Amino acid sequence: MTYDVVIRATGRYLPERVFTNHEFEAFLDTSDDWIVQRTGIRERHLAAPAEKNSDMGLAAARQCLERAGLDAGEIDLLIVPTVTPDTVFPATANWLQGKLGNNRAWSFDLNAGCSGFIYGLSVATALLRTGQARRCLLVGSEKMSALCDFTDRSTCVLFGDGAACLLLEAVEPDRNPQGYGIKEFAMGTEGQHAEFLYQPAGGSSQPPTVTSVLAHQHYIHMLGRDVYVHAVRRMEQTINDVLAKGGAVAQDIAWFIPHQANARIIETINERMGLPSERFYVNIDRYGNTTSATIPICLDELDQAGQLKPGDKLVLFTFGTGLTWGSCLLTWGSP
Ligand code: ACO
Repeated sequence: MTYDVVIRATGRYLPERVFTNHEFEAFLDTSDDWIVQRTGIRERHLAAPAEKNSDMGLAAARQCLERAGLDAGEIDLLIVPTVTPDTVFPATANWLQGKLGNNRAWSFDLNAGCSGFIYGLSVATALLRTGQARRCLLVGSEKMSALCDFTDRSTCVLFGDGAACLLLEAVEPDRNPQGYGIKEFAMGTEGQHAEFLYQPAGGSSQPPTVTSVLAHQHYIHMLGRDVYVHAVRRMEQTINDVLAKGGAVAQDIAWFIPHQANARIIETINERMGLPSERFYVNIDRYGNTTSATIPICLDELDQAGQLKPGDKLVLFTFGTGLTWGSCLLTWGSP
């Protein structure tokens, strides 16, 4: 049997410390004006030094489970899309499984940069559809501050820390006559541009040395303008692809939920598609780019604000390092 896959609950966690643009002015040649005009970001949350990625994921997961009225032990699959794992190995999902006190879920991380959440949603959907698991916690969690070079004004102002998750559930199609749930994906990768955005050292190609640390090679390195140009083109393409696959048109969509990398990227896509800007959800002003966590944070905010109605069609879309991109068409609600 092939199951339908629905979103049963959401949860999110943002660290307590809010770091404003003005705070950067004290130690970088930058300004609140520049950051707001070029990116739309006003502030971001930063994790405490001892606060781990898995701690943030745990808080988001617990909130999600509580809202679903489930115990952690009722989860049989746990996926953490992230580029900032607690440790290179084992996976953050394994640390998180231990903290949740769950000993039956199989758990792994997924590394697809800012596309991690949509890639993870696609993998989770495939596993649930085919009956390999019944309930999955998909936890996008990032401690981006650990990868930020706070002497590099062109990158450190862009990112923030946070976590959010979805509880995905497989349901028999005859229990879901409304047709809620995940419908289609459209994904892509262009590996020849991997060096547009990467962490040069720390992996097996360049293990850590004193020299690599002194040269700031363990931080984010980015060709911002190149990433920007590809992001606009690929996100517009992936939206059109997923609408076509799902037999939908833009006018059918209640909310377009973008990965939050830069408000100008979102505005450009919105203008090119000729849609009302109110249908593109933007919260980058408060969180910056939290990589794998941006889209589930948006979903959780919208849902908690009562802005998602059962039957609403949503398009989630993203672009990130790799280069990678992807989108998902879904119908909000669960039976
Ligand atoms: N404050 C002040 N000036 C700055 C800052 C800053 N924080 N950062 C850069 N500048 C300067 C540059 O040094 C440059 O100065 P110069 O002209 O004297 O050389 C000038 O501003 C213009 O720089 P650009 O890079 O051309 O500025 P741009 O308008 O392109 O904005 C930005 C830069 C915000 C990084 C933009 O290119 C962008 O958002 N790119 C996409 C980034 C992105 O999406 N990244 C995440 C992908 S997701 C993932 O997988 C992690």
